[in-house]
Amino acid sequence: MDNKFKDVRIMDNFYQSSAFVPMPLTLIGTLNEDASSTSFGAYSLIFPYYVAGKDFYAMILECRNTSNTAKGLLRHGKCTINFMPYSKKNFSEHVNMGFPGDTPEEKIKNLKMFTPVKGKSQEENPNEAYPKILDEALQVFECTWVRELDGAENDKVEEEYNGPYHNFNGITSKFGAHFILKIDHILLKEKYYDALVNGVDRKNFCPLPTNWGYRDSKNFWCSDFEKPDAVGIPNREIDISSVRYAAERLQTDVKFTDDALEMLVKVPRPFLKLVLTGCVKWADENGCKLITKKEMEIINDKRSQEKNKK
Ligand SMILES: Cc1cc2nc3c(=O)[nH]c(=O)nc-3n(C[C@H](O)[C@H](O)[C@H](O)COP(=O)(O)O)c2cc1C
Repeated sequence: MDNKFKDVRIMDNFYQSSAFVPMPLTLIGTLNEDASSTSFGAYSLIFPYYVAGKDFYAMILECRNTSNTAKGLLRHGKCTINFMPYSKKNFSEHVNMGFPGDTPEEKIKNLKMFTPVKGKSQEENPNEAYPKILDEALQVFECTWVRELDGAENDKVEEEYNGPYHNFNGITSKFGAHFILKIDHILLKEKYYDALVNGVDRKNFCPLPTNWGYRDSKNFWCSDFEKPDAVGIPNREIDISSVRYAAERLQTDVKFTDDALEMLVKVPRPFLKLVLTGCVKWADENGCKLITKKEMEIINDKRSQEKNKK
């Protein structure tokens, strides 16, 4: 390392005291104590946690364990993560909702720019109480806390938390809590839903701020959304002989013709075995011993139908 870099002291809240880490800007809604209304707090330490390969999808939230949000999650286990459009005024509303110590009643009085409305979970279960979502949000995740992970099922609201602490779910330190949040619904405003389904371009890209994350002793800092740039996915083909080699190493008597293997040259190497095994599984289920281009087309059709169903 030459003198282009300075070695920074790593401190508490290193993501903003020792570094510039880009983070989302959200308002998280949880139920107040008697579940009669929703309280909103500003949160940015909220990230995808389980993204594939589990029975559910999840986010993780890192928060102060005495916050209204932590209390709401410990008591009722439900929250809404509201991604709001950016403007300086909206950002200032987040900062207002980020002032530690306000009670839910005080907070709701301070919520001036945004309107709490019923979400989809509430619509589906009218007899249960769910936190509201914010009408102006561009995107909302409705979530349920997965209490049973890391043995946190008995964690409850207390005056002080003196341990023992969990590693990654529930009360995790004297002042901290982590919540693994199963995603029940992702709600998107129509324009951005259409963008996902029909194709994203520079005009319909969801305009969420992506440059929040720094605060000093005087200010919170965030910049507006900028039009995104697009870079094409690299069109890297592997040699058909590598695909053939991988196919021949599978523990099966199912064979592939060259024109079938040709259709797999664009599959990235780490996924090749998985895709080939999927083809063999289909062949076994359909009494097929030789996969040609025709069978590959049937398999691809089936795969895209399954994807669409999801
Ligand atoms: C933009 C912004 C982002 C914030 N992100 C977090 C966070 O990720 N975790 C946290 O514990 N506090 C965070 N805070 C501070 C909380 O908002 C603050 O503790 C607030 O009191 C929480 O509200 P609540 O008590 O209603 O949950 C953030 C504050 C702001 C302004």
